[in-house]
Amino acid sequence: MNNQNIFNEIRSKIDIVDLIGEYVPLVQKGRNYFGVCPFHNDTNPSMSVSREKQIYKCFSCGASGNIFTFVRDYEHVDMKGVLDILAPKAGVVLENNVVSKKNSKYDKIYEIYELANKFYQNNINTKDGQKAKEYLKNRGINEEIIKEFEIGLSLDSMDSLTKVLTKKGYDDLTLDRIGLSSNNHDLFINRIMVPIQDANGRTVAFSGRVYNKKSDHKYVNTKETEIFKKGTILYNYHRAKEHARREKYLIIMEGYMDVFRASSVNIKNVVAIMGTALTTEQSDLIKRTSHNVYLCLDGDNPGQKAMMSVGEQLEKVGLQVKVICLTDDEDPDSYIYKYGVDKFKSLIESAISFSDFKLSYLKKGINFNSDLELSQYVDTVIKETSNIKDEIRREIILKKLANDTKLSYNTLEKRLEEYLAKSNNVHKEPIKVNTTKENIKLTKYDKAAYGMIYAMLLDKKYLDKFEKQSLYFAIAPYRYLLTEIEYYYKKYRNIEIADFYTYLLDKEEVLELYNKIISFVDSDMINDNAVDDYMKVIKDYNVGLEINRLKDLMKKTYDEIEKSKIAEEIKLLRIGE
Ligand code: GTP
Ligand code: MN
Repeated sequence: MNNQNIFNEIRSKIDIVDLIGEYVPLVQKGRNYFGVCPFHNDTNPSMSVSREKQIYKCFSCGASGNIFTFVRDYEHVDMKGVLDILAPKAGVVLENNVVSKKNSKYDKIYEIYELANKFYQNNINTKDGQKAKEYLKNRGINEEIIKEFEIGLSLDSMDSLTKVLTKKGYDDLTLDRIGLSSNNHDLFINRIMVPIQDANGRTVAFSGRVYNKKSDHKYVNTKETEIFKKGTILYNYHRAKEHARREKYLIIMEGYMDVFRASSVNIKNVVAIMGTALTTEQSDLIKRTSHNVYLCLDGDNPGQKAMMSVGEQLEKVGLQVKVICLTDDEDPDSYIYKYGVDKFKSLIESAISFSDFKLSYLKKGINFNSDLELSQYVDTVIKETSNIKDEIRREIILKKLANDTKLSYNTLEKRLEEYLAKSNNVHKEPIKVNTTKENIKLTKYDKAAYGMIYAMLLDKKYLDKFEKQSLYFAIAPYRYLLTEIEYYYKKYRNIEIADFYTYLLDKEEVLELYNKIISFVDSDMINDNAVDDYMKVIKDYNVGLEINRLKDLMKKTYDEIEKSKIAEEIKLLRIGE
């Protein structure tokens, strides 16, 4: 069986509505199912899933495809990984290497990083690594954690890694470019090395921690490279994602040490933001693991401040956010180390909602004797409260606020109502679900071509009819797509919309057009009469082009006989000969 057949077989055994429904709640509306698209920031159900066509399409971000692309993009795996996930679901046994791994232009860089990672890990297990191991041991990091997180050591030497890698044949320019050396010198010297992996588990960067001397920089990180974009990475994501799906929540911490510690007490659904703000890409990654997140950043001021901004960002992408509160001088690492896992688990249980956290954060440091500070504080709290959907909770907060500030409940309520009216106006704007049909402005010709091609996909007799009439597509992408359709029919005899999608995946020049066609046209737009109409439009268009060509030719011709011949030809075309 070739690859296409394997894909087709798996596809025929898995219903796309069931599959996507496992990841995203879907609601049926008419002939399609709708859900919140996991491929962009959204809270509206803009992704439509068609059981009939076995494809999905997001009307907001344009993401579209079949079961294979959904799993590929959701799980961040390549096609081989997709098959590993879907074949068992379909009950299809894969022979080895059905899909050869596609070479990426970054393969060489990944390879070098893997070598560097091995080198550092080896170092820590030699005599040179004794001090580093001692340091880790003193912090309660045991062998198991060192292995699990592939912790290593860069040697106290200017160029040990560079030497190893140049000996393997990698040139110094490459090593400079990918952030491992600079002018034949190592960038990481005498540090405990933490490899940073992407969502697929490939090492893409390192972070090196000082351990036996003073330095201005506790950690040194790899610079951004072709394979390392800081804002797209969350530390430990590739390990944590499965655990988070199983546990139904993800915990977000600040640093590597926090993750090591949590893992050492068997809390594995944890990622670290590596001490920075959260980007949209990162919140999207988080959204793919679970709807519920627990923020557990450091207990100090910067940690609390970060909690505010990270929490906002997570709520913006529609996640349910809770906050685990640590006392001032603790971080998750020190807390678990000191008080143990059970205490930490009860902290998780008593986590507060993000909006409660926000309120108490806003209250900190406010001088209630200052009229200005007090009124600003009250206003901010009421504004925040107006974003809370639950009426009872709003009332509770307002009562507390009245009590705290000795202001009258009625005054506060009035202000809240003002804010609610404002935000209601915002919400009342109709939610735009731009269905493609309204969205795409198609010419008469495009519509006909779309319909014609869809007809050909549904039934080969329409392809035959088209060709029998010696019709052709004058516009290139349609022509290319038609060539692929002809080829596919020859080889597989029958076309399923979603299988043909798989076939076109590496044919970018036509995939986009195909995408538009299959989301624009429905099978009830196809019947013999409609197809005759489509063919007429396409024919007229071709005739129009031919007439224009001849007119141009006529302008350039000075021979009167030749001219009248062309005029005759034009006349014949016009009357439809
Ligand atoms: P320990 O201090 O060993 O407990 O490590 P930690 O991981 O707990 O560090 P900390 O809580 O101070 O900082 C959180 C995260 O911010 C770290 O894991 C790093 O990702 C990042 N970070 C902290 N300090 C530095 C630094 O000096 N340089 C860089 N590039 N990142 C840092
Ligand atoms: Mn720490």
